[in-house]
This record gives sequence, structure tokens and C-alpha cells, in this order.
Amino acid sequence: MHDQPRYKPLARSEFFADGRAARPLPEGTVARGGLREDEALYTGKAGGAFIEQLPVPLDSALLRRGQERYGIFCTPCHGLGGYGDGMIVQRGYRKPSSFHVDRLRNEKAGYFFDVLTNGFGAMPDYASQIPVSDRWAIVAYVRALQLSAHATVADVPADYLTRHTRQWMASGRSSLAWQDDIGQGLIEELDLRRLRAVLAEDDVLVSSSRMLELLTGRYIRNANYVQMLRIKYADNPRYMDDCDLAILLAWETTARVAIDARARDVFRKLVEANDQLPADRPGVVHIGFEAIEGDVVERLRYEKIVENARQFDPRGKPLEWVYCHYFMPESPPDQAWAFDETTQWFGIRSTGPHPLGEVFLVLSETARSRRGPHWADPST
Ligand code: HEC
Repeated sequence: MHDQPRYKPLARSEFFADGRAARPLPEGTVARGGLREDEALYTGKAGGAFIEQLPVPLDSALLRRGQERYGIFCTPCHGLGGYGDGMIVQRGYRKPSSFHVDRLRNEKAGYFFDVLTNGFGAMPDYASQIPVSDRWAIVAYVRALQLSAHATVADVPADYLTRHTRQWMASGRSSLAWQDDIGQGLIEELDLRRLRAVLAEDDVLVSSSRMLELLTGRYIRNANYVQMLRIKYADNPRYMDDCDLAILLAWETTARVAIDARARDVFRKLVEANDQLPADRPGVVHIGFEAIEGDVVERLRYEKIVENARQFDPRGKPLEWVYCHYFMPESPPDQAWAFDETTQWFGIRSTGPHPLGEVFLVLSETARSRRGPHWADPST
């Protein structure tokens, strides 16, 4: 093998008359690649500090591009919603912080660009795989994710529904479905025939789940409804005899912050109850609540309680078991009134099997055959 002679950058040369190995560029040379003069665009910084805002115009095309690139490059670890729960993480990769914690919500746009460009701790950099313009598109999308996870109904523009309703009316079609940055929706004609057919024979309880089922064709447990009806009352004014106009609005918010705020924990109640326990004999605490917030919220509440209970310190009290009883009232269309019960229990300093045996306080023998919490199988 030969040693190939070569110069190191800026080394001295005996060969050239000016003694420099580095040769001046021939006149008229054009640089290859970009000049990268725009510091903000290429580094996310201005004067050494991260820039607050995107250095590129924000429009829906940028967000769509960002969403697509985010889906390709970031979801394996950060998850679709940015909660740090991607598939690779579920299989053991280091779990990144959620994008929705205050620290990252308050971070500047330039910071995110910098992480993508240079990497961060266990996270590799993406400078060679994602071009600059796409990196900013991803940053814009991460920002949108952060906003959406903290949006509440109050952030929805006041004319949001009016706008879509006008659009629907102008379209002349029987239904209009849409999906945008705020949400998705469907407007369609209600078919009053089912309700009126029943009303021809019978009276129907006003605002009951039976009425909603007849109007919409299905029964949704825990749906939020706003309704406007033109009805003829029956002799008993809780019932209707006829209805010839109905406007129904069913809605649901899936923003994590809204769900989180409603899934209140029982921690304070547990502290209070524990304080009241006698110190000289084993104690059990039962906490019961009306689980009226809907399945998504109750499931999260359940998880929060499990997490907090694990760390609960009974401060010297011989508290052995805690039971949480979820009573969920509902009025299915075929019954006047009913409720479902779910029991959650956990041992604090348990010494034996849990004393309740059968886990339900109220429900009957037959109801005991249901397995799992009531939100796990909405069909029961
Ligand atoms: C292979 C897994 C993986 C991929 C893919 C990935 N990240 Fe990360 N990311 C991480 C990990 C792990 C951390 C935390 C690193 C640490 O704390 O050492 C992190 C940290 C971050 C942080 C800094 C968070 C903080 O706590 O300050 C940001 C911002 C970020 N990632 C954005 C992204 C974006 C945007 C993408 C897509 C281009 C992406 N990441 C792709 C794993 C990944």
C-alpha cells in the first residue's frame, strides 16, 4: 500500500509560491449548498438565544407537512399525542418527557429546533435526515399538539357551530361532516318519524334517554346533549304527547386537560378518613362516588387513584384496605332507572385477603357476573 501525500487544512506548502496549501477560490466560484446566513432559520437562535417564534410563515400547509413528518420521525418514541408513550418506549426505550408539561409548553420554538438539529441526551439528532424546512414544520406541529392538549371548550370560537351550520344549510345536502384544527363534527337531519310513531300510541318522558334514542336512533351513555324541542305535553307535563320540531346537539371533549380536570382524585378524602380511624385496630375505608363524568373520565380517575394509593402514607394508623365504590346512575331507554357499580380496592398494610369478599356493596347476585369495571365494556 502506498502512502498518498496530502495536505492537512491550512497546512504549509513548499509547492505553491505563496506557501499556502489552501488555494484561493477561482474567480466567479459559486458556493455549493446554502449560505446559511440566516442564523434564526438554521440554528433556531438569534444572538445566541433561542428564538420565540417560528422563523417561517405558519399556515395549514406547514402544519400538515409537520404532522406527516412528525408521524414518521417522532411518533415511535414521543407517541401520536406527544405524551412520550411511543411504541419503542413501551418496549423499553428511555421515556421522553411529555410535550405537555409546563416546562416544554413554555419553551421557545428555537429550543425544539435545536433538539432536532443537535439531539438531546438519549435522543439522536435528526439534522441529516430531516431538512431545515421540515424541522420547522415539525416544530410548528409540536406547538399545535401542545395547544390542542390544553384547549378547553372555552377556546372554541363562539361562531364555530354557527359557521358550520350555515355551511350545511347553504350546501342543500342532508348531512355535512367536517374535521379541522378544533374538532370534528357531523350535522344531519333528524328523523322524527321513529319518535312520532311511538308517540301516536304512547307518551314519552321528556328529555329521557328513551326520547334521545328515538330521536337519534341510538342510546349513548354519558353523552352531553343540548336540545331544543317543540312539543305538546301530555296530561302529565313530564311526558310529551307529540313533537314536531327537534334540534339536538351532542358533544364530547377529548382534550386531555379537560378530562384530567374532571377526573378528580379521592386523595383528600382518604387523608380525612384515615385521620378519623382509631389507632388501636385495623381499619378499612370506603369511599363512594357517583361516577357521572363518563367512561373516559372515570377510567382516568381510576388510574390516578391507583397511582396515588401506592404512595399513600397512613402515618401510623393501621389502615389496611381502601375501597372505592363507583356508582354510575343511568337511565337506559328500556328501564326507568338503573345504576352500575364498580369497586376498586387496594391494600395499604393489608395482612390477609380483602375483607369484602364479594366486591360489590349494592348490586345483586346476578349483576356480579360482570367482569371488569363498567367503563371497560359499555355494552353491559
Ligand atoms: C428513538 C426515540 C426518539 C425519537 C425517534 C425522537 N425522540 Fe425526542 N426524545 C427522545 C428521548 C429519549 C428524549 C429524552 C432524552 C433524555 O432525557 O436523555 C427526547 C427528548 C426530546 C425533546 C426534549 C425534551 C426535553 O425534555 O427538553 C424534544 C423537544 C424532542 N425529543 C422532540 C422530538 C421530535 C420533534 C422528534 C421527531 C423529529 C423526536 N423527538 C424524535 C426520544 C426520541
